[in-house]
Amino acid sequence: MREILVTSALPYANGYIHLGHLVEYIQTDIWVRAMKAQGHQVTYVCADDAHGTAIMLKAQDNGITPEEQIATVKASHESDFGKFLIDFDNYHSTHSEENKHFSELIYRRLDSAGHISTKDVEQLFDPEKQLFLADRFVKGTCPECGSADQYGDNCEVCGTTYNATELKDPQSTLSGATPVLKTSKHYFFNLPEFEQFLKDWTRSDNRLQTSVANKLQEWFEAGLATWDISRDAPYFGFQIPDTPSDEPDKYFYVWLDAPVGYMASFKNLCDKRAGTDQALDFDRYWMQENEHKTEVYHFIGKDIVYFHALFWPAMLAGSELRTPTGVFAHGFLMVNGEKMSKSRGTFIKAETYAEHLHPEYLRYYFASKLSDKVEDINLDLEDFMQKVNSDLVGKVVNIASRSAGFLVKKYDGMLSEVCVESELLEDITKTGDEIAAAYENREFSRAMRLIMQCADKANEYIDDKKPWSLAKVEGKEQEVQDVCSVAINIFRQLMVYLAPVLPELTANAKEFLNIDSLDFASRNQWLLGHKINKFKPLMQRIEEKDVAAMVEDSKASLAQADAPAATESSKPAAKDKTPATDADAEQTDYIGIDDFSKVEMKVAHVVACNHVEGADKLLQFTLDVGEAQTRNVFSGIRKFYEPEQLVNKKVICVTNLAPRKMKFGVSEGMVLSTGDPKTGLTVVTLPDACIVGDVLA
Ligand code: 2FM
Ligand code: ZN
Repeated sequence: MREILVTSALPYANGYIHLGHLVEYIQTDIWVRAMKAQGHQVTYVCADDAHGTAIMLKAQDNGITPEEQIATVKASHESDFGKFLIDFDNYHSTHSEENKHFSELIYRRLDSAGHISTKDVEQLFDPEKQLFLADRFVKGTCPECGSADQYGDNCEVCGTTYNATELKDPQSTLSGATPVLKTSKHYFFNLPEFEQFLKDWTRSDNRLQTSVANKLQEWFEAGLATWDISRDAPYFGFQIPDTPSDEPDKYFYVWLDAPVGYMASFKNLCDKRAGTDQALDFDRYWMQENEHKTEVYHFIGKDIVYFHALFWPAMLAGSELRTPTGVFAHGFLMVNGEKMSKSRGTFIKAETYAEHLHPEYLRYYFASKLSDKVEDINLDLEDFMQKVNSDLVGKVVNIASRSAGFLVKKYDGMLSEVCVESELLEDITKTGDEIAAAYENREFSRAMRLIMQCADKANEYIDDKKPWSLAKVEGKEQEVQDVCSVAINIFRQLMVYLAPVLPELTANAKEFLNIDSLDFASRNQWLLGHKINKFKPLMQRIEEKDVAAMVEDSKASLAQADAPAATESSKPAAKDKTPATDADAEQTDYIGIDDFSKVEMKVAHVVACNHVEGADKLLQFTLDVGEAQTRNVFSGIRKFYEPEQLVNKKVICVTNLAPRKMKFGVSEGMVLSTGDPKTGLTVVTLPDACIVGDVLA
């Protein structure tokens, strides 16, 4: 059993979680769950990144203390992560005792080893706000091309990078005042002293992805610079210890104590679990001498590689602590092929998404896109709907819904004593090894492809055996049970494979299957002579209207968030639920919703369709309406269809019409069509992804 500590980057405590953030938390959570399911001891920690000028100013804007600000945001972050089933073992804050302790410890060790130096730095200072201005709080005219309104670090027009002090006509974005130049003493971490260590570290033991290692090579060639780790008061953070008492207070720059937050959150967890059977030994994970006993992995976005692959390992090595086993970077999220956009409604908050759509849809979609590469991934909303509906609803859940009804109704939920298709089942069990490896290597899109191939095999098997037809033949009872039992066993394996991605759906499936584990190894025990429970729908299709409503809501809530008086942590205004008025209202004969809801319409599969001898208007249908029920239905569409055009299609059947006795037999429902019976009728057919027996609502 491996002992593994995993982290995701710490979100800033001045904003909400959006879908861009979720790529990383979902990626990490899936990895953690997959490794736990393979029997390893994995601990997943995170925290809010609570320090810095931006958070201090945000709190000022909101008229609250920074402590209040970070407490509110932490609660909202934890609530969002909970909705998306991100299962942290601990969620802490960088504004904590543990973090203060370790930040000071690391700093003091670096200092006593001679890795800290000081230098006077001249910076722009806001005379009204009385604070030094970080680059993003200064705007002015580009010294190179003369474009106005450019930030203090680079020009968006000509791309030149410069120092904020070089801007012409600078202005503080905080007060509008003209900044003045002011000098103060800063503390620096001497990164160049770690050049050789870092060159070796970044190129050994597969710690980094190839593209990341190549990027670092460019930075080495450009030359490493000392890193400014101090900020002057006023600043929300930890004071740097041991500075001369006759000098102004200095604070650690937020990026100094942020990664230490990984360690602090873990320590906080160790303390919480002390004395329990889940106790964790802090030293085993962080002391240099134990480096090879445990593993530490950081999942991060590609924009913060510099901090995690250079500063952080150098800080750890310089203070005689262990360095990470691996740093895994991912790309950014695009929506509909473009950068997320507030005006197009594609800058979507986690909270807004969850109001409209099930988080597991997104977990699956991201999984189907993620690889071990640092590539951007695209959330195409149309593709998202189609993929989730067709893969999860149409392929995976369908396997259970097609077979469970027969077993529960006719065999009291008992699966056969023997497996009649061991080769097929063995094949799917074996694919599990490849799926497990794909998860471990963070090739989730490959894992999802392999899983869907298994689902295809199961559906092909069911289509080939046609239990709904066998069920009508006397003497075939055993065969029906056997076929459905094979299907259920494959479904169970798929639940094991999908559990890291779909924890809620698979937990419900576990109940239905009446099993006690979804661990990877459990797939080897086939369910023979085993009783399952009644099947309940496990996932609903994504509706286009819900995606559209989420986009509209995102436009609205972000307009709200961008308004000057609003704060990012405040809740969006309650949505206007008033329906649009209907221009034709006066001409419509309304029925009440109660009347409408009396009509039961179900997705039906056309098992057979035939001419009716002696009836020139009718076709006779045999429909599978789910739960092992078939219906005989006559429909007056013979003039418009040849029977074979309709066989195997999914149609809508009204299932609670009173049976009608006709000359040719009893009609037990109605197949819905559109058009005019005189000039042409079109049978309403549904996409394959629809589940037989599902009620139209
Ligand atoms: O980029 C960010 O959002 C940072 N708050 C990430 C910090 S990760 C770690 F170093 F704390
Ligand atoms: Zn310019």
